Amino acid sequence: MPEDALFEPLRFRNLIVKNRILRSNISGRFDNYDGSGTQTRINWELKFARGGVGAIVSSFVPVNIRGRIMPNYATIDRDERIPFWRELGRRVHEFDCKFILQLSHAGRQRDIGGIEFEKGLSSTDRPEPLNGFECERMTEEQIGQTVRDFAAGARRARQAGLDGVELHAANGYLFTQFLSSAINDRTDGYGGPLRARARFLLEVVEAIRNEVGRDFHLQVKISATEYNNAMTLFEPPGNTVDDTVQVVQWLQEAGVDAIHVSTGSSFPHPRNPPGDFPAQEAVKTYDTLISSGSRGLANYLALRSPGGAKLLEFMWSRARGDRIEGINLDDSRKIKQAVSVPVICTGGFQTASAIRQAIRDGACDAVSIARPLVANNDLVRTFEAGLDGPARPCTYCNKCLVNVLENPLGCYEESRFESREAMIAEILSVYQPAPFSEALAAGG
Ligand SMILES: Cc1cc2nc3c(=O)[nH]c(=O)nc-3n(C[C@H](O)[C@H](O)[C@H](O)COP(=O)(O)O)c2cc1C
Ligand code: SF4
Repeated sequence: MPEDALFEPLRFRNLIVKNRILRSNISGRFDNYDGSGTQTRINWELKFARGGVGAIVSSFVPVNIRGRIMPNYATIDRDERIPFWRELGRRVHEFDCKFILQLSHAGRQRDIGGIEFEKGLSSTDRPEPLNGFECERMTEEQIGQTVRDFAAGARRARQAGLDGVELHAANGYLFTQFLSSAINDRTDGYGGPLRARARFLLEVVEAIRNEVGRDFHLQVKISATEYNNAMTLFEPPGNTVDDTVQVVQWLQEAGVDAIHVSTGSSFPHPRNPPGDFPAQEAVKTYDTLISSGSRGLANYLALRSPGGAKLLEFMWSRARGDRIEGINLDDSRKIKQAVSVPVICTGGFQTASAIRQAIRDGACDAVSIARPLVANNDLVRTFEAGLDGPARPCTYCNKCLVNVLENPLGCYEESRFESREAMIAEILSVYQPAPFSEALAAGG
């Protein structure tokens, strides 16, 4: 279907992707506590490579241990991690699929900190307002070290033969904590006016370019609008899309090859991933966070009370608004008008017609998809067959999201399966092949 916008190759400065559908950043707690990768993560990524996406953008990959969001995600904090990423890239490439690694630092938004560090680092020393995660304000020396850690991460990704890196400057993590007018309360050269708040991110881009050169793909995922007061009504709203339009222009000048448009000053956020807040399901796993932040217990008790759960669900859907598929397209269009590099838009995409329309209208050059691909790994094959969408679509219930704290990532929407047993079997299929299976021992 060469005339179909969905299947036209996407040309970045240093990289060509075979179609316009990227798997957005998502993975479960599939790796070892120390950040070494496992066969399970390889199995996870192969589900999507096999399903026909043009590229996979990995889930967050911490550049150092203090920057972890949760343990049990593979890291890129030292050279000994390179062989794992090389093997993962090699396996994904067998399906003519590219692999872009997301370099990340949680800052204060650490869901589960782990045993090594009591507190996260941030632009501020004010705790994160939703869960009460505590943090330390970064010194200039700590900022400098973190810049070097990002550059080293990019160098390792390149040495591993991966196709590029993405900076996770979205969804409330460390870069957002610097960019945000609502969070960054510094009075030194990294706070105050927008240019100063963007300085840390721009220094990282410069350091990466110095480390890996101009010919390695580098993209940035950014929250275009922060909606910082969506759930915490007493907080200021944070950056607007106009602020972000300025930031992406600076990023382009600094040598960034693409922008990936997201939203929200926290994760999760009513607008990201867009959908429901499944309070009944969330209460089963939120207990894991009780000791992570000072508000954990209060949130847990609120979730357990029928009135509290209903109030949370109401506030969530009110802040989200009505649109789910293409929720970020208005922001994406403004960003696309401001830059010449390709723009990728995330948020709710699930039908060929909506994606085609978004590309034809000039709102984005490609889309990234997470949950609808978890629900239907072969969504791109469905589009290739000429269908507009899957027979059993993702319902945007967000049960996958809340389960990831304690359970294997997969689709937890029972109504999409013949039976609960079928749902569990599909979730557990990520453990096949097992690390010590005969097929693997034989090199299969
Ligand atoms: C369980 C889960 C984990 C996620 N992890 C990441 C992540 O590590 N990095 C990131 O940038 N986005 C992450 N996201 C956001 C997705 O990549 C995506 O941008 C968002 O879910 C909207 O796309 P969708 O509607 O296609 O799911 C995650 C989403 C979910 C549901
Ligand atoms: S649990 Fe399944 S249906 Fe619900 S949002 Fe996640 S992938 Fe979609």
